[in-house]
Amino acid sequence: MTVHARIAVLPPHGHTLELHDVDLAAGPYEVVVEQRAFGVCHSQLDRIFDPGRSAAMVLGHESIGTVAAVGDEVTYVQPGDEVVTTWIPRTPLLGRAPAPTAVILADGTKATTHNTFTWGTHALVDEQYVVKAAGLSRDLGAIIGCALMTGAGAVMNTAAVEPGQSVAVWGAGGVGLCALAAASILGANPVIAVDIDDDKLKLARSFGATDVINAVTGDPVETIRALTAHPDGTRGVDVALDCTGRGANIPISLAAVRPGIRGTGIRGGADILVGIPRTPFLLDSFDLLNGEKSLIGCVGGSCDPVRDFATFAGWAAGGRFDAAALVTDRYALDELNTAVADLHAGRVGGRAVVEL
Ligand SMILES: NC(=O)c1ccc[n+]([C@@H]2O[C@H](COP(=O)([O-])OP(=O)(O)OC[C@H]3O[C@@H](n4cnc5c(N)ncnc54)[C@H](O)[C@@H]3O)[C@@H](O)[C@H]2O)c1
Repeated sequence: MTVHARIAVLPPHGHTLELHDVDLAAGPYEVVVEQRAFGVCHSQLDRIFDPGRSAAMVLGHESIGTVAAVGDEVTYVQPGDEVVTTWIPRTPLLGRAPAPTAVILADGTKATTHNTFTWGTHALVDEQYVVKAAGLSRDLGAIIGCALMTGAGAVMNTAAVEPGQSVAVWGAGGVGLCALAAASILGANPVIAVDIDDDKLKLARSFGATDVINAVTGDPVETIRALTAHPDGTRGVDVALDCTGRGANIPISLAAVRPGIRGTGIRGGADILVGIPRTPFLLDSFDLLNGEKSLIGCVGGSCDPVRDFATFAGWAAGGRFDAAALVTDRYALDELNTAVADLHAGRVGGRAVVEL
């Protein structure tokens, strides 16, 4: 069975997405999802503006919709099921790695992705990238598969933040706001947001930030040290998270992390690398070593999608996470290039979502 779809294709060269009419057929393990909404993540800008790209691509990796068709070997869902799509496999130990998706365009050429794509009226994804989502709101479903998974998961899983720990988040965008919300929900205090935009910092307060710092007009490291005086005499946050994707921020966020105390067994805090720096960065090796600090990479918030999406849905149902407030900018499918341009220019307050 084929499903007619209108999907966004990034041509081999240039930065402008084109809408193509295609017929999608689910491979043996694939699912076609008729979409209600999808999110626009900063990581896709890295692909759009990648100077080394030379092939047509399909993009996007978070959405909510209804299963329209399934391949012969699909057992997890059936047509009519409500699902969210994500990019972390649901059953990674199955012994079958999800195949890269390739869409055949009307002229016979291919547009590909290394895992999944959601930017279109329909998504074509391996069944490992869908999670059943009956009853989720459109806004929560649109952002749970990446922004919430990554930001909240980074706090809950990668850093395993405990009540009373101090947390600072650099970058109050789609991912960073979810990290702030999770830190607040898990009982961290203080919860400090650092950004370069006062409007984003204002929004950060409504997502649980107790303190905000504009990195252009203030000194984040000194301010954080002043906000975090520990009884043992040390200063700095237990956990810093960089959600900006700017490599130059990593040594700054590391400097704001609490050092360990020699002779006590108390080691320093952790800096979690969430944003994806596209260039190498230099670290103060003395700060890292002498403070017994950790720098920890984070992929998709170290999440198990089925387990953790249920937790996040519980936060939303209990009124502790407001997905509608995260979706600050809404677009139609034919406005996708505007959404991309707005995100690139820093004009998106929280998460941009395309509604279908
Ligand atoms: N590790 C993962 O698995 C994973 C998953 C998804 C996204 N990401 C990455 O996370 C990052 C954030 O994604 P997003 O969609 O939230 O982006 P976004 O554009 O919505 O947010 C980025 C935020 O960083 C702020 N910022 C920029 N420079 C800053 C600076 N010098 N100091 C403080 N704040 C600054 C911006 O104002 C913005 O609020 C990107 O690098 C993205 O590629 C990583």
